[in-house]
This record gives sequence, structure tokens and C-alpha cells, in this order.
Amino acid sequence: MDLGIKGKRAIVTGGGSGIGFETARQFLEEGVRVLIAGRTLDKINKARDELAKKTGGEVHAVQVDMRNEADIKRMVDTAKEKLGGVDILINNAGTMYSGRFAALKDDELKNQFETKLFGFMRAIRLVYPMMAAQKWGRIVNTIGGAGKEPDPYMFGSAMTNSALLNMTKSLSEEFGPDNVLVNAICPGWVATNLWVQNTEGLKKELNVTSEEEARKLAAKKNSLGRMGKPEELANASVFLCSERASYITGVSLNLDGGRLKGLW
Ligand SMILES: NC(=O)c1ccc[n+]([C@@H]2O[C@H](COP(=O)([O-])OP(=O)(O)OC[C@H]3O[C@@H](n4cnc5c(N)ncnc54)[C@H](OP(=O)(O)O)[C@@H]3O)[C@@H](O)[C@H]2O)c1
Repeated sequence: MDLGIKGKRAIVTGGGSGIGFETARQFLEEGVRVLIAGRTLDKINKARDELAKKTGGEVHAVQVDMRNEADIKRMVDTAKEKLGGVDILINNAGTMYSGRFAALKDDELKNQFETKLFGFMRAIRLVYPMMAAQKWGRIVNTIGGAGKEPDPYMFGSAMTNSALLNMTKSLSEEFGPDNVLVNAICPGWVATNLWVQNTEGLKKELNVTSEEEARKLAAKKNSLGRMGKPEELANASVFLCSERASYITGVSLNLDGGRLKGLW
């Protein structure tokens, strides 16, 4: 199926690994010109080289910290310079702040809000005028299921996620007349670095001693009984940015193997 986005210009934040890396790879295979952004210079440059080698597509890299407003401006300026503009923004860079209420620290919670809520919002603020002027734009926010179904262990991430879901829906309405579509994906557990970083806490929470047991127990909660793969998340993000998704906006797609049992 031709997704109809050959030649479009995309920024993928957190493109150095996991879901972002796979999303960038799939865009490149569709002929999209891509700028990946990430926090660690070596890592993002290495990812750029690997993506170029794998796909033969046009890919650039920029080192940014999404908690820093000036860095976000530099990222968008780099896209203007290297790609000539922006048609697609994948807001994906982020961490997970897990732990129960009593264990959470205000500073770390602020860090989570700065990275995901403000990081996503500030990037949107800078790319939207370009998208509106050309009457074509796609924004996908990578959020997370705990924003829809509160989980005491995911308290910190969940509060950020709920705010991001609200932002997605609200902006989809505001940007609709300009043909700028704003959607979200909500991953369940996906086998990435982030999962590995969270295993110690999760082992305690689930009262198990090995990562393997934690993986099994976490996956057991979804209908498919396994964790997601980064490419399965990327499939959906890329589709939401395609011409094939031209009538979809304000949606938040659960990509969790059936983990959430509610109706939205
Ligand atoms: N994996 C899951 O189970 C899961 C579940 C729900 C939601 N999510 C969301 O999915 C998104 C992608 O995560 P992933 O699972 O693919 O994990 P990942 O492989 O760790 O990817 C996250 C990427 O974001 C970058 N990043 C983090 N903080 C940043 C910052 N302040 N500025 C710039 N870049 C930053 C990281 O770069 P550096 O390594 O250089 O810092 C990394 O490349 C995240 O937003 C995460 O919250 C994941």
C-alpha cells in the first residue's frame, strides 16, 4: 500500500532508539525525509548512520534536550535548514516516571512534565505555523495507557499522560480547519531500553526476583499475553501520518495488546 507521504519532511524526537528509531526507519522506507533528535550526541549520530545504511534514505540528526526550550527551537531550525520545513512531527522523546505516590519526588515529577508535557507542547508550537500555512500537517504524540486508566504504580507518568491526552484532543479541534491532524498512540509495555530501566522498580512492585518473571506478569495483563515490539508501535504512528489517515484526528490509539479493558 502506498502511504502517499513520499517526499514529506518529518521530525522524530527520541529517534535514537526504541519506538522512535523504528518510526524513523519506516518513514525512510516510505521515502520521507527525516530529522531524528535525541539527548545523547553519540547515540543520535550512530542511529542516523545506521538508518542511512539500512534504508538509503535522507536522514539527519540533532542533539537536543527536550526539557530545554532553546534546544527545541534549534531542532526546528535544523529541520528548516536541512529539510526546508516540517510536515510531520512525532513527539516521542521521553522517559517513564514510575513508582507509588509516597515514593515520588516533586523535582522528578517536574522533570517528567518538562520532558513530555512541555517538550511536546513547545515542539508543536514551533511547527504548527508551517503546517497551517501549507494546509497539511501530521502530529503524533507518543503517550501511554496509564493516562487513560490510572495505575497507582504509574502515578507520575499517568498524570503527564492524562494532560497530554487532553492536549491532543484539544489541539486536534483547534488545528482541524488547517488540515493539521493531531493524534496519539498509547503504548502498553514495549520491549525497549525504557522497559529495562524500569525493571528494578517493577520487580519490587510485582514481588518477583527476575526480569523474566516481571516480563511475564506484566504481559499477562493484556489479551495477547506478550509485550509489544517497537516496530508494532511505529506501524501505527506512520499510518497516522499518512495520506491514508486523512480523516483521522483527535484519536488516541491503544497499542497494548488489549491491556486496557475500558471502552476508549
Ligand atoms: N517502552 C514502553 O513500555 C513505553 C510505555 C509507555 C510509553 N512509552 C513512551 O514511548 C516513548 C519512546 O520510548 P521507548 O520505549 O522507545 O524507549 P527508549 O528506547 O528509551 O526511547 C526514548 C528516547 O527518548 C530520548 N529522550 C529521553 N529523554 C529525552 C530528553 N529530555 N531530550 C531528548 N531526548 C530524550 C532518549 O534518548 P537518550 O537515550 O539519548 O536519553 C531515547 O532515545 C517515550 O515517550 C515513552 O514514555 C514507552
